[in-house]
Amino acid sequence: MAGQAAPAAAGKMAALVAWIDARFPMTKMWNEHAAQYYAPKNFNVWYYFGSLALFVLALQIVTGIFLTMSYKPSAADAFGSVEYIMRDVEWGWLIRYLHSTGASAFFIVVYLHMFRGLLYGSHRRPRELLWIFGVLIYLALMAEAFFGYLLPWGNMSYWGAQVIVSLFGSFPVIGDALVEWIRGDYFISDITLNRFFALHVVALPLVLIFLVVAHLLALHEVGSNNPDGIEIKKVKGPDGHPADGIPFHPYYTVKDVFGLGVFLVLFAAVVFFAPELGGLFLEAPNFEPANPLLTPEHIAPVWYFTPYYAMLRAVPAFAGTQVWGVLVMFAAILLLFFLPWLDRAPVKSIRYRGPVYKVALMLFAATFIMLGYCGLKPAVEPFKTMSVIGTIYYFVFFLAMPWYSRIDSHKPEPARVTK
Ligand code: HEM
Repeated sequence: MAGQAAPAAAGKMAALVAWIDARFPMTKMWNEHAAQYYAPKNFNVWYYFGSLALFVLALQIVTGIFLTMSYKPSAADAFGSVEYIMRDVEWGWLIRYLHSTGASAFFIVVYLHMFRGLLYGSHRRPRELLWIFGVLIYLALMAEAFFGYLLPWGNMSYWGAQVIVSLFGSFPVIGDALVEWIRGDYFISDITLNRFFALHVVALPLVLIFLVVAHLLALHEVGSNNPDGIEIKKVKGPDGHPADGIPFHPYYTVKDVFGLGVFLVLFAAVVFFAPELGGLFLEAPNFEPANPLLTPEHIAPVWYFTPYYAMLRAVPAFAGTQVWGVLVMFAAILLLFFLPWLDRAPVKSIRYRGPVYKVALMLFAATFIMLGYCGLKPAVEPFKTMSVIGTIYYFVFFLAMPWYSRIDSHKPEPARVTK
């Protein structure tokens, strides 16, 4: 009798699946996006970061929901409610540290994910839209992090928001009105906090989820790139599937679970042993309540914004207005949208590109880190000069790309993926 129970249960399961499939494309979607989605067989470590970004997005949403249950979005109560979460709410400290560490982890993962694109030419035709959705995600992520940072109503939250919002005041004619419109008040106030809360917990998460779905649909439409930068769809096997492709499930689901395990070990080490990471993930002035009368000794945004902050400060203020610095900062981000068309090399992957791109890209990565470091430091020498040099190189890397990517030498691409 016991031997018949298993087939009977399996039969019932199959009947349930068939019942659902007749009403909702469950199996069809599963096959299209996992069991029958053929991904190149040569994915390497750089291909972990997309699924890790998905995981962190889910983590931020879940921990965010639990934080919202005890957080109070008002200038009078916000700081106290965060302290209450840390001290009195059961496991509140863990939920909060998961969320604050998750914010930094999100940017680490996304920066590595974007860098992979630059390594293997994943932004190139036919993946331009996939890349553009990515840049939109990056913009939405920055907005999400900025709004979230005001919520604990610490002194750095307050002054950070003050500095960034007042940047919009440097635009001629509309500047002052724009700043007032963003704040909803004449200063950063309870009203500002309330609207930032609405944007952080409802509007931007919705935008992010929508963009991530669009990003993945675009990816599955064109198929994944790979470390060789060649299209696996060109060579089909006898079964009609790409000869160098393997089904995403189970091969890459298993691989991604391994990557997730490694990530979680590192992530847990920070959450449990160094959640402030020496002031990099949680800054010291934010352990004091917001005080409009007391400016922190040195105002700096969180590390993931500091490369752009360094650029902002690298451009001197003319006639008392910082507008050029603000434009340079925005231009630096907007340039990313044009990358697919700036790159003119005949091959995609760094494996087959010439020395010029290899050097240019390594210098670019070093410059971005250097700018991030300068943005954390006070605006004094040598950081000022380093920021100017870094800003110039950042723009040269992109704007000179149509030229140097064409004249650079390259090796012939293989017909089939290698390793
Ligand atoms: C919430 C943030 C993001 C999530 C959840 C996400 C998710 C993913 C996933 C799951 C993949 C497939 C796996 C992989 O290739 O690693 C992928 C691929 C890709 N993503 Fe993202 N992504 C995010 C942000 C970005 C950003 C900011 C960019 C660029 C500006 C970007 C550009 C790309 C590109 C070009 C690919 C294709 C890579 C290839 O096939 O070689 N993504 N993304």
